Parts: sequence; structure tokens; C-alpha cells
Amino acid sequence: MSMQAKPVRTTDLKEKKRRGEKIAVLTAYDAMMARLLDRAGIDVLLVGDSLGMVVLGHDTTVPVTMDDMLHHTRIVVRGTQRALVVADMPFLSYQIGPSEAVRNAGRLMKEGGAASVKLEGGRAVIDVVKRLVDVGIPVMGHLGLLPQSVHQVGGFHRQATQPEQVETLLADAAALEAAGAFSIVLESIPSEVAKAATAHVSVPTIGIGAGPHCDGQVLVCSDMLGLFDEFVPPFVKQYAHLADTIVTAGQAYVDDVRAGRYPQAAQPAAAARTT
Ligand code: KIV
Repeated sequence: MSMQAKPVRTTDLKEKKRRGEKIAVLTAYDAMMARLLDRAGIDVLLVGDSLGMVVLGHDTTVPVTMDDMLHHTRIVVRGTQRALVVADMPFLSYQIGPSEAVRNAGRLMKEGGAASVKLEGGRAVIDVVKRLVDVGIPVMGHLGLLPQSVHQVGGFHRQATQPEQVETLLADAAALEAAGAFSIVLESIPSEVAKAATAHVSVPTIGIGAGPHCDGQVLVCSDMLGLFDEFVPPFVKQYAHLADTIVTAGQAYVDDVRAGRYPQAAQPAAAARTT
């Protein structure tokens, strides 16, 4: 009899920080990837709005819609048994005001099946974070590089490089914790700033391009798997080179079909698919 693993909860992440255990987070956008990464033992699967760039072919995350996020959240949840699923709130789904944010975050949980949501910003969105937490929606914050503001900051640049920006980031992190956020992503900031922010709050920080001192790390799955190889951010470690593997396998199949090597006469023509 196989025992189903206990699902990861937001409270487990805080407990991990307290015990000094690191938290492993990856993005996922579909049921197949979710199933594989869940089987690998990942703590959190983030249905990131990086979906827009990784899967949907946009240049930024700005065009991602609630419908996009709902669709991909549903299918990630369908493939997940153990990991905590966090759904990103897309641009303009929460900035207009707390009521609209509650409606949209509620949809990601009720219709999408997510256990929590993530949104970008600190004190600028603190009323929204408070309202979501008040109605029982767990919120992961996101500071540093905010990809939804790419047009305002003029690109995907490193943030919190000046002393006054560091002060702002630390104050935003404290405000998110006070508002009830259960965790905070820190993106593209200097390692020492991430270290200070991690010491400044009691909720876990999850870094991406923010050095080793955060309580956990998140990467975009297609970056760490070498699936998206046109641009590899400098902080990414590629644990596989799946783009090469897929192209090589695809070429071998094309060659086999064209040369009449596949299927072979001895191969069963109508066996049922088992996977
Ligand atoms: O959308 C996303 O994938 C993210 C991570 C990079 C943290 O926000």
C-alpha cells in the first residue's frame, strides 16, 4: 500500500525557517511538469506569471491574464500531490484595489485550486495584502526586481544596489510580514541585501538571483532544466540540458520515419498506451 505524502502547508515553510532548513521552490506551468517535480520532492510549485514569457511567447509578464493563470493553475494543481501550489496574481488583477484583489485571488483558489497567491510589491500594495490575509488567503510577497514593473524600471535590472533602495526594501519586507505575508520572494538583489532582509523578518525569504543567504531558492523550471536556452540568466545552474536532448530525439525520430526505420514490422501496431 502506498502512503500519500503529507501536503506542504504555508505554516510548514515558517517552521522550516525556524529550524534552519532550506526551502526548495520551482515554477511549473502544466500537470506533467508538476507531477515530475512533485515526485522529485519540491516543497513549493509556483505557477509564476513567467508563464507569459516561458510558455506563451510574450516578451514580458505584463500581458498575462487571469484566464491564463486560472488555466495553468488548474493543471498544475491536477499534477500535484504534496507540494504547496502558489499562483501568481497577474498584472492589474490586484493593483486596482483590495476588493478586486480578493475576487481574483479567490478565483485562483476556488476555481484554480491554488493554496496561496503571490503578488509583487511592498508598502504600495499593503492594503491589498492585509485584506487578502484577513479573508483567509495566504499571500507570498515579492520584492526586488518586480517583472510586472519592467516598463517603469527600464528592464530586468538588478535592484537595491543603492543604500536608500536597501532601506526601502527592508521597510517593505517588514511591512509585508506585519500585513501577514507567509513568505517573501527576493529577486535580483545583492547577496548581502538578501542576507539583511532574511535576518530582518521572521517569515521565510525565497531568493532568485539573490545569493545563498535566503531561507529558500526558486528557479524557473525551464531555466534549470536547460529547456529554454536562448538566454540563461547568470545565476541559473542548469541541472539538465533538455533542449539539446529534445532536439536530438526529434531529429532521430524524423530520420527514422523518413528512412522507414520506425515503426518496424515487428513493433505492435495497436498496443494500448499505459502512461
Ligand atoms: O513568475 C515567476 O516565475 C516568478 C519567479 C521568478 C519568482 O515570480
